[in-house]
Amino acid sequence: MALNQAFTKGLEDTIEQLKRDKVYKRLNYLESPQSAHVQMEGRGDVLILSSNNYLGLSDEPSVIEAGIEGLKKYGAGTASVRFICGTYTIHRELEDVLAKFVGTEASLSFVAAWNANEAFTATIAQEGDFVISDALNHASIIDSMRLAKAITKCTTGVYKHSDMDDLRAKLAEQKGAKRRFIWTDGVFSMEGAIAKLPEILQIARDTDSIVVVDDSHATGVLGKTGRGTAEHCGVFGEVDVITSTLGKALGGAAGGFVAGSAAVADYLTQRARPQLFSNALPTTVAASAMQAVRFVVEHPERVETLRENTAYFREQITEAGFKPLPGETPIIPIIVGETAAAIQMSDMLLDEGVFVTGFGFPVVPKGEARVRCQISASHTRDDLDQAIRAFKKVGAKLGIVR
Ligand SMILES: Cc1ncc(COP(=O)(O)O)c(C=O)c1O
Repeated sequence: MALNQAFTKGLEDTIEQLKRDKVYKRLNYLESPQSAHVQMEGRGDVLILSSNNYLGLSDEPSVIEAGIEGLKKYGAGTASVRFICGTYTIHRELEDVLAKFVGTEASLSFVAAWNANEAFTATIAQEGDFVISDALNHASIIDSMRLAKAITKCTTGVYKHSDMDDLRAKLAEQKGAKRRFIWTDGVFSMEGAIAKLPEILQIARDTDSIVVVDDSHATGVLGKTGRGTAEHCGVFGEVDVITSTLGKALGGAAGGFVAGSAAVADYLTQRARPQLFSNALPTTVAASAMQAVRFVVEHPERVETLRENTAYFREQITEAGFKPLPGETPIIPIIVGETAAAIQMSDMLLDEGVFVTGFGFPVVPKGEARVRCQISASHTRDDLDQAIRAFKKVGAKLGIVR
């Protein structure tokens, strides 16, 4: 029996409260690779509309093969941090490929985009700097700013979501700051909205600020060739710093990176604590991620398929009577109101063989709970039609559509 029972009891009480509040997250166990469909324990085959596997590369044979080859060539892991036990050549290759792909001089990989974001802000920001974030930025950016503030005593702020007047006003208030950083998601994960990047870059030019974009939901997804928000907005190569994940469109395993000038990558190599005190990305993951990038470069038609699937699903779900948040990205949230309603809808859809997650407060604002559909290039028209049929049936039962 554990020594401190009061500690365990405290946690159990909190968990019980989550269940009473109907915000407890039940995990669904998967028994096969993610593709358009997945084998779910206790349910069998389900159609998955709840994954960041945007290009369907998590089970792409050449990506799996590259991971196996990486495993055989380099072994299971890195066994220490890069500057101590040595850096694998696969990391250098991957970082070159990633930098080229997103249009920067260099990049540095991390075990997750979470670490990359945390490393960037907490390492780069200094006392006297001002770092401002879009109100809807990802939790990793928010936490990175909290950490930076605690460590460096930089000043931080938040501007209203995509409100360029508010951004300008808040930057003007900090005119005396040593340096001013603007942090934004490229694609906002809960809305599917795209950052107003050309305007943000103009504001940065006008105020001599530095722009940092987290493109985790845009890399491999946005732009004609999948190079992200900057390509989509016609400003490829103009963003100071881009961070992104390898855990979504680029194979979906894990890993993240910071891309920017060679100086940014080198400075983070010297100073970022997640680099200096934590193992590097497993070599097998580096190898499969590199193949994923190469695949996207060689198969831009996969990005086009994703775009076509997204347009088709948006059109069909709207025709069915639902009101998805408008947009162009494969993140298609359908607002249902209360958290319990989103969870109920998600459960009912799963009973119909369609896996879509419901999100409520505190992940999204109160009263704006939603089921968030995510479209993949691996979905066929039949898959998307199956999803629409399930939505119609469940929506009618819940009185959302007729
Ligand atoms: C916008 C954004 N940034 C960062 C992350 C973290 O990515 P990773 O899983 O690589 O840590 C996520 C993942 O949900 C994300 O959506």
